[in-house]
Amino acid sequence: MEKPQSIAPPKGKLGVLLPGMGAVATTFMAGVELVRQKKAVPVGSLTQMGTIRLGKRTDARSPKIKDLVKLAKLDDLVFGGWDIFPESSYEAAVKAGVLDAHHLAAVKVFLSKIKPMSAAFDHEYVKMLDGKNVKKGQTKYDIALQLKDDIAKFKKKHGCSRLVMLWCGSTEVFMKPHEVHNTPKSFEKAMKENHPAIAPSMLYAWAAITSGIPYGNGAPNLTVDIPAMQELAQQHNVAIGGKDFKTGQTLIKTVLAPAFKARMLGLNGWFSTNILGNRDGEVLEDPGSFKTKEESKLGALEFILQPHLYPDLYKKIHHKVRINYYPPRGDNKEGWDNIDIFGWLGYPMQIKVDFLCRDSILAAPIVLDLVLFLDLAQRAGMRGIQEWLSFYFKSPMTAPQLYPEHDLFIQLMKLKNTLRWMQGEDLITHLGQEYYD
Ligand SMILES: NC(=O)c1ccc[n+]([C@@H]2O[C@H](COP(=O)([O-])OP(=O)(O)OC[C@H]3O[C@@H](n4cnc5c(N)ncnc54)[C@H](O)[C@@H]3O)[C@@H](O)[C@H]2O)c1
Repeated sequence: MEKPQSIAPPKGKLGVLLPGMGAVATTFMAGVELVRQKKAVPVGSLTQMGTIRLGKRTDARSPKIKDLVKLAKLDDLVFGGWDIFPESSYEAAVKAGVLDAHHLAAVKVFLSKIKPMSAAFDHEYVKMLDGKNVKKGQTKYDIALQLKDDIAKFKKKHGCSRLVMLWCGSTEVFMKPHEVHNTPKSFEKAMKENHPAIAPSMLYAWAAITSGIPYGNGAPNLTVDIPAMQELAQQHNVAIGGKDFKTGQTLIKTVLAPAFKARMLGLNGWFSTNILGNRDGEVLEDPGSFKTKEESKLGALEFILQPHLYPDLYKKIHHKVRINYYPPRGDNKEGWDNIDIFGWLGYPMQIKVDFLCRDSILAAPIVLDLVLFLDLAQRAGMRGIQEWLSFYFKSPMTAPQLYPEHDLFIQLMKLKNTLRWMQGEDLITHLGQEYYD
């Protein structure tokens, strides 16, 4: 594929639209504002802190990523979104309990002005939640048109030159692809017939894509991982990506598993369990929503370890994932992993990982990076699935004939090489023979 001819510079304001304005979304917005106020450093954000090597190791060229590619500036971001609860983002942030009082005080005025628009919501798809700030309409299609109207009004009101939509809403019940998802036409017909295979998250995605706006999926929901959405993305020249932010336990899993495979160490089992007490944890108490999350978390090992290529090492892996809602922990999740590996002559060994993490603190910089990179991809004319953003997802979307790449370091190499390619720089192969000629 030819590199993009020229990437339009990011002029004007970038509107960030967030369906779901809970813990992750408010921590993200608060963090951007704190960085803008110079009260915080954007730790965890590759776009803000990461560098990229260009040319040979001896060239000593390692600019910041944000200086190599033309990313929107934090000062140019404006925020909006939808939620089933009408409270302002300040109230939602207080409720989420992620940020300390001094951080909340510094962003109180800013977050208080951000009030969610009424949501496209149906209790059938998130059984643990109910709220009053919800749109009414005869059909799902009517609701989707209302979302399109919200988008157009937001753009006008805030004078945005571009928009990006990133799903930060709850995990919906597990859904399999259905034949109504096959084409844009069958999808539209299904919306008009209130077909159960059309989930609320899909209405947002349809509204975004048909409005020419890139869409990223931070939850494991099916949403844009269906042919109709992918065809629409092509038709409307829109970048899409997903799914499910790769934050805590899966981040560590996709670092450790490649290490075992690199050293040809075997694996008998991997037991992962979590306790968390935020609203996300409460939603995942419902078996339907948990199933969606479980599927998303289970895929990584199989794809990284490739048991079909290494049957002696990985043929019989017992992989279990548990999520337990435990309110005292709030957003501070604890993820335990017990890993049973084996080495030379089959002798068993164990590794235990206990990650006392903060869910939304890990997710917020991912939201920022995805917003900025999806906007970049859009300006570069890169439509459809953005596989180079797999780095950020637990369950990366790919073209139908491809298996997803889960290894964090391959994902990072792919991401950085994509940026080099976009800028017409040499790709880095790590061959390095030239230093010894
Ligand atoms: N924090 C992490 O580490 C992490 C990692 C991966 C994925 N995620 C996913 O990100 C999402 C957000 O997580 P969170 O911790 O902010 O959860 P949260 O419960 O605090 O926020 C989600 C918000 O979405 C709203 N919502 C639900 N359905 C909606 C709809 N149809 N329209 C508009 N709003 C809707 C809810 O009312 C809630 O306020 C979840 O799906 C979660 O699984 C989070």
